[in-house]
Amino acid sequence: MKTDITQALVAEHRLILRMIALLEKNAPHTAEGSYRNWQFYLDGIDFIRQYADRFHHAKEEDVLFKALVDNGMPKEHSPVAAMLMEHDQGRSFVRALEAAVHEAQTGRTDNYQTIAANALGYAALLRDHISKEDDILYPLAERVLPETMRSGILRGYQDAEAQVAAEFGAGYDAIVTKYEQE
Ligand SMILES: [Fe+2]
Ligand SMILES: [Fe+2]
Repeated sequence: MKTDITQALVAEHRLILRMIALLEKNAPHTAEGSYRNWQFYLDGIDFIRQYADRFHHAKEEDVLFKALVDNGMPKEHSPVAAMLMEHDQGRSFVRALEAAVHEAQTGRTDNYQTIAANALGYAALLRDHISKEDDILYPLAERVLPETMRSGILRGYQDAEAQVAAEFGAGYDAIVTKYEQE
């Protein structure tokens, strides 16, 4: 039995998917003008940037995907290249969402469709992205990466975790739970 190197990342996907479900629930009501809790979107953007991107995607990009490339997967035109491109597409949605939410906060009322479209665009992208990682790329990594690389990968995850406060994950879980109860 090889040392597991993807279970922690799959667990992080579960929390990211809960935030995605909130975006999917609230954005249609923003599009029709009835949900105008801009703080939800700002908290969502912070969650995506800090938890999904800086924390989770950094473990993928700097550790697991890097290990796959070091182990011989091509950097270009490969599953890793596709995943990196989708991380970047997600960042574009978040930038556009943030700009539109800031405008709405200062009184603009004609861009609720833009807010909803970017929130739902991000949600659809990430939902599909996560299922590709869970169903294809992570199982592939578990099959191909040799045991000799695995303690280094786990150390890489620990380094990423050492960069954030001990209550980092629990704090974001609490924010997601708060909006689930809204
Ligand atoms: Fe990813
Ligand atoms: Fe991921």
